[in-house]
Amino acid sequence: MKLLVIGGGGREHALAWKLIQSPRVLKVFVAPGNAGTAQEHGLENIPLTSTPDLIAFVKNENIEFTVVGPEAPLAEGIVDAFHAANLKIFGPTQQAAQLEISKTYAKAFMQRHAIPTADYASFSDAKLAHGHIDNKGVPIVIKANGLAAGKGVVVATTIEEAHAAVDNLLVTKQHGGAGSEIIIEEFLEGVEISFIVMADGKNVLPLATSQDHKRLLDGDQGPNTGGMGAYSPTPFITPEIHAKIMREVIDPVIQGMQHEALSYTGFLYAGLMLTTDKQIKVLEFNCRMGDPETQPIMLRLKSDLSILIDHALKGTLDNAEVNWDRRTALGVIMAAYGYPEQPRKGDVIHGLTDRPPELQDTNGFHIFHSGTSLSGNNSDEIVTAGGRVLCITAFGDNIKLAQQNTYRLANQINFSGSQMRDDIGYHGINYQQKQ
Ligand code: AMP
Ligand code: GLY
Repeated sequence: MKLLVIGGGGREHALAWKLIQSPRVLKVFVAPGNAGTAQEHGLENIPLTSTPDLIAFVKNENIEFTVVGPEAPLAEGIVDAFHAANLKIFGPTQQAAQLEISKTYAKAFMQRHAIPTADYASFSDAKLAHGHIDNKGVPIVIKANGLAAGKGVVVATTIEEAHAAVDNLLVTKQHGGAGSEIIIEEFLEGVEISFIVMADGKNVLPLATSQDHKRLLDGDQGPNTGGMGAYSPTPFITPEIHAKIMREVIDPVIQGMQHEALSYTGFLYAGLMLTTDKQIKVLEFNCRMGDPETQPIMLRLKSDLSILIDHALKGTLDNAEVNWDRRTALGVIMAAYGYPEQPRKGDVIHGLTDRPPELQDTNGFHIFHSGTSLSGNNSDEIVTAGGRVLCITAFGDNIKLAQQNTYRLANQINFSGSQMRDDIGYHGINYQQKQ
């Protein structure tokens, strides 16, 4: 069968790389893809982005099913359009995707279904928002309501910062329409983890656990980013916590959606805080896989992803079986100069095919591409073409060893102005040392 993956980042490279490993899959098209997917055996990039073009392509090529990577096409209603054309696609409808698209929708949904989350209030009037901040004090968290590519959240530690965040969103409209309504919420202290499942409308298949590192700099300093590295599994999610997350968060979302006649099909990502007083609170929902969480998760997935998605599309996820490599996989992002504010494009990437002597087993790692393209001057040359450029991902028998292997490989690769954290996995390593 032939499949289509929509998107062009590291998440989509990892999904397509995994799908093509299935003996059932002849070819995976990636729209639009990147230099990594262009070079991968069995994958082919297609330069299409509009929904009508994609629908025409899927019909023409007899694509069995389509998988949506990023949130933007989901927000535009690509799933609804494919359904209307009688085509199989894995992802939530536009209405169900409101869980990610609108923070006020997500918050109200969580309230309706008693899903634990930070206390909040929403505002579109700056004066009322300023008054609320004076009332509550700091630390406090200010969020744009709409999609703002991970940049619409300010964790303010001073009153001045909090007021400035309100003005940037509601008065000077730094994030345009995405910030015309804001949420101000209670600051939560604890450990942040990612919990991703597949859902078929009624059944849920939890994927391997993971932890992302959202800040740009070591020690979780600097600005928020889309994620600078992730590893799987994370020791923070013990079997008891896993069961609690399923009971308190995931099951109520799927049942709540059914109850509201929406039916959630697709990947569902809960960004969770395990608070210092041992509670689980939802920070956000995403209606897609995480990036970079997908890269280590896909490296560990031993089962056939095309079969899992088939089950999800048929409503039989309760019959699906999933197996994971027992080792830890850890991925580190190499980001472009200027990321996250103004990433520079066009820097030539060197060392992509160099292998450290310790890592000759090609099954032990994979270099997933995000913002890369084949440069026009020389078809062999790969250049930076986005904020996050590569996710170098490798296995190890524990987090520390996975970290060593990943950095050995990452240190062979370079491009001008590259940014990389040196401590991905450190929360998990510290936690394990204390046990
Ligand atoms: P979000 O896009 O809502 O996940 O927020 C982006 C990042 O801001 C999260 O990954 C957290 O690191 C941080 N954050 C969001 N909400 C809170 C909160 N209520 N308390 C503490 N940190 C938060
Ligand atoms: N890694 C965080 C996200 O995908 O939203």
